[in-house]
Amino acid sequence: KSAVNGSGNPRDFVAKMKDGKKRLVIFYGSQTGTAEEYAIRLAKEAKAKFGLSSLVCDPEEYDFENLDELPADCAAFFVMATYGEGEPTDNAVQLMQNFEDESFEFSGGSRTLNGLKYVVFGLGNKTYEHYNVIGRRVDAALTAMGAVRIGERGEGDDDKSMEEDYLEWKDTMWEAFAAAMGVEEGQGGDTPDFVVSELEAHAPEKVYLGEYSARALTKTKGIHDAKNPYAAPINTARELFAPHSDRNCVHIEFNTEGSGITYQHGDHLGVWPINPDLEVNRLLCTLGLYDNQDAVIGIESLDPALAKVPFPVPTTYGTVLRHYIDINAVAGRQILGSLAKFAPTPEAEAFLKELNTNKEKYYAVVAEGCLKLAEVLQLAAGNDIKQAPTPGNTTKWSIPFDLIVSAIPRLQPRYYSISSSPKLHPGTIHATVVVLKHENIPSEVVTKKWVHGLGSNFLLNLKHAVNGEPTPIFDTKDGERVSIPAYLIEGPRGAYKTETTYKAPIHVRRSTFRLPTNPKSPVIMIGPGTGVAPFRGFIQERIALARRAIEKNGPDALNDWGRISLFYGCRRSDEDFLYSDEWEQYKEELKGKFHLHTAFSREKFKPDGSKIYVQDLIWEDREHIAQAILEGKGYVYICGEAKNMAKQVEEILAKILGEAKGGSAEVEGAAEVKLLKERSRLMLDVWS
Ligand code: 2AM
Repeated sequence: KSAVNGSGNPRDFVAKMKDGKKRLVIFYGSQTGTAEEYAIRLAKEAKAKFGLSSLVCDPEEYDFENLDELPADCAAFFVMATYGEGEPTDNAVQLMQNFEDESFEFSGGSRTLNGLKYVVFGLGNKTYEHYNVIGRRVDAALTAMGAVRIGERGEGDDDKSMEEDYLEWKDTMWEAFAAAMGVEEGQGGDTPDFVVSELEAHAPEKVYLGEYSARALTKTKGIHDAKNPYAAPINTARELFAPHSDRNCVHIEFNTEGSGITYQHGDHLGVWPINPDLEVNRLLCTLGLYDNQDAVIGIESLDPALAKVPFPVPTTYGTVLRHYIDINAVAGRQILGSLAKFAPTPEAEAFLKELNTNKEKYYAVVAEGCLKLAEVLQLAAGNDIKQAPTPGNTTKWSIPFDLIVSAIPRLQPRYYSISSSPKLHPGTIHATVVVLKHENIPSEVVTKKWVHGLGSNFLLNLKHAVNGEPTPIFDTKDGERVSIPAYLIEGPRGAYKTETTYKAPIHVRRSTFRLPTNPKSPVIMIGPGTGVAPFRGFIQERIALARRAIEKNGPDALNDWGRISLFYGCRRSDEDFLYSDEWEQYKEELKGKFHLHTAFSREKFKPDGSKIYVQDLIWEDREHIAQAILEGKGYVYICGEAKNMAKQVEEILAKILGEAKGGSAEVEGAAEVKLLKERSRLMLDVWS
């Protein structure tokens, strides 16, 4: 029986709340960590505003049977992300089942939660069809069971305005909350979450320098997952675009032999990036920690249930900024408000307060200008953000480090569709990553600059390191020379370089994006750009199967297999045609069952001069497509950009199917598309 938890059952959140005198329980359904961050923020605000403590819970770690025993002066919060095609996140599957399954009963022996006070905030993405359905379903289920919602249900749109949606929702919610709970604002206070202390003498081998799991240094074994990524050696890494292209696309192969990691075609690879040197130095300089970056620090949580130290400690200031927190993101409006009081001058303070309260100005300067937190601080203090930051040219702000740790979210892994099959490449995972860079929208205070995606540029840096290549220099449009951001690849432990190889921390996330088991079913794959990645894995998977079938039953073994069609698009056949050297061999091995349709959008045009895209090729092939889907019971897969491409491809499919059924795209076609999705015969792996 545990001494901390009176009931002895670690899955009993009600007992835990009583023990810790907590009046709020905040559950989060989170896949990539965003919902968890908002859950923690709500907990912190409840504390700061009303002095109320919360238990922030991963629903997977608790039982729901006694939700009906929550005392009347308590409330339950649900911060629920909708994932993929309207699914709950992995950690909320059980919660959803309990709430929606008629046979589930609470400990009182019924399905009623009479008078239970609750709050819902849903996280979704309007680009996807099932916008915020999980938040809505939780809300509906709770209401149906007799619980009473406090305020309106909040909904955030990750495609556009998650942060703004949250900020707009929460103030009215807290007003309703105060009334419902009979509490008043001003009872809390701005209490810190953590204590940071510099450690004088500390064994260097016990200092975390970029490891993600505490296991790394204690050498305890454990499976490799999102909580314990594996530092995978890199077998090879190469550029996929032609040398004359002004863009990059990295093909990278990770070695997983001996790691216990397994995967299937269509799964996702999580890669844990680090922050670029420039941004690490910029924040170190603004915090006045540049010369002290290697000091060993311990961090303790003042309320572990509210805020766990989000990375292993002891560590160093420099490591926290480089490896553990997301300093490279565009600065949020709320954090600017909370840091204003640490400004070095009244002007700098006024500048931050203005950005915090004036939404239009924040949007024009910070959001469109793509300014990171340290850049905003530099700008506020009158520093030149275009210069390489040094302690000499950067004004120091006296921001306590514990506030940095609690206000800046943890650095999260970036996910890529795996582009190989384990059957053809056992012990190896391939990823195909286009390198993201775009220009910001300048304003009167911010000049034009390049904005570089964190994960893809990290992998590009690794590729250069693996091949001993110098970092290339790009010409921007106005002739100014700007290099890609550099990353400390050859850092100490934590460690992207060993004596013999380079490494990067990875883990595998399972997906449901899979080929049908029966090779007789026709397969239609649509993946322009890097959307082709999973389909390279699909085809390799089929090739492995084909080799076995031919070995067993001879050269005619594939005769009754269904056709596998891949619709692929890129700009030009000689520039960004991914894996152009592989497709012919795949066709040969699949004995004519594999058909590749290519749309080169900046090479060949329609008579009216407009571009030819994959959806145009699909339309050309409509007869076969309708037949493969309607008669052959075929499977359709779409991978790539969600908002335009995937949407337009779905529209074309609806048109083809609608016409084939003698009806319209809007009615019969749309119904058929919906049916295909429900039967998992139309699957999407898309991003915005
Ligand atoms: P574009 O850049 O010439 O417009 C991979 O990015 C390929 O997808 C490119 O050829 C790109 O063409 C094309 N593409 C851009 N928008 C698209 C859309 N809405 N539908 C299909 N393909 C698109």
